[in-house]
Amino acid sequence: MPQASFHFPRGFLWGTATAAHQVEGNNTNNQWWAWEQQEGRILQGHKSGLACDWWGGRWKEDFDRAAEGGQNAHRLSVEWSRIQPEPGRWDEDALERYRVMLRGLRERGMTAMVTLHHFTDPLWLADLGGWETEAVVPLFEKFVRKTVEALKEYVTLWCTINEPNIYALSGYAALDFPPGKSDLNLAARVMANMLRGHAAAYRAIHELQPEARAGYALHYRPMVAARPWFPLDVLERNVHYSAINMAFPTALTTGVMRTPIGSARVPEAKGTQDYFGLNYYSQDTVIFDLRKPGELFGRRFYPKDADLSDSGFNANTPEGLFASLKWAERYHPSLPIIVTENGIECADDHIRPRYITQHVHQMWRAVNFNWSVKGYFHWSLVDNFEWERGWTQRFGLWELDPETQARRKRRSADLYAEICMENGLTSEMVTKYCPEIYDKMFPG
Ligand code: BGC
Repeated sequence: MPQASFHFPRGFLWGTATAAHQVEGNNTNNQWWAWEQQEGRILQGHKSGLACDWWGGRWKEDFDRAAEGGQNAHRLSVEWSRIQPEPGRWDEDALERYRVMLRGLRERGMTAMVTLHHFTDPLWLADLGGWETEAVVPLFEKFVRKTVEALKEYVTLWCTINEPNIYALSGYAALDFPPGKSDLNLAARVMANMLRGHAAAYRAIHELQPEARAGYALHYRPMVAARPWFPLDVLERNVHYSAINMAFPTALTTGVMRTPIGSARVPEAKGTQDYFGLNYYSQDTVIFDLRKPGELFGRRFYPKDADLSDSGFNANTPEGLFASLKWAERYHPSLPIIVTENGIECADDHIRPRYITQHVHQMWRAVNFNWSVKGYFHWSLVDNFEWERGWTQRFGLWELDPETQARRKRRSADLYAEICMENGLTSEMVTKYCPEIYDKMFPG
């Protein structure tokens, strides 16, 4: 059997990613908590509840698990509604709690990456119309200034907004996120305001911390036409691709947001990123479908023979990560790239070891083209509250029973630990954790 190893550059960041509302528990003062209380919003009526009880202190044991597993970085988010529970009130204790957590990362030798907005808004902001009006921009900037000032001793790597495209499209088109309003014009307006908020945050961060590196995280979906020879499939692929992916990238490179659902001039956004943050899960196939007028006459799906996750929510399409990195490198030739999220839902862990292995392998290929990939954050460290899918999907390297708070290690945690400690992937790991793909990985 051929032996091989795929190593990464020294200093590569290996970590996991989490988000406040999904892990902290009792985040009662934001619009997601309110949404969870409404009937029919979350699968099986699940609620975030205590989540992973990080606010109760269980972050310590989870950070220990990450550090013992060789991770040298962690991406977490802070909860705006805790830090600013009312428009005129800052909660210094909440900020102190985050400082303690971030010190906890430092004490474990881990680099912190902090996301300032990950899908949740304080209730008071939602009451003011959330991101639908430009009034949010100075409010977000104020929150960012307060937070960065308080946390900058421990953080230089900032992510302003997580997946603005998913926030806008899920809340205003797919309707599985709050506020659940069906209005594509509003979705475009929300994205434009998020761009303005991002740009203001980017400048504020640099003003307060000149050495900071700031960016955002894009949920990027590479797409292929179902029948590449059929012009309508190609057209639909292009329409969907651009509607879903391109609002932020177009605006950050040109100052004009251009998507099929709306355009806006946002000159202040041009050039406001120090790295490109890529959240990659799966690649879509797109087909023209007359029955889908609400989806611009296109349907996205995974092919019949795809390697699917438990519920079919993700497909294991590692070639899509390579395609995404290639796009990122070409679209932002001078920016470092960080894979800010990548993972798959799988409760019994039968697919995750090969998903991790194949994605790390594709990332290694990209590194070997000298594309500047600097880090990888697996989603996620421990099972957590999966938004409208509640607890039905399990993304953790560690399994969690939300009732008892008991954690149990999945085999993937051991595999990922070996990768982090080796700073690479070896054929022995493939033999040990996912022999079923050995021939595919090492043909001949
Ligand atoms: C989000 C995470 C989420 C993950 C898996 C990403 O789109 O940023 O919050 O848990 O997908 O569904």
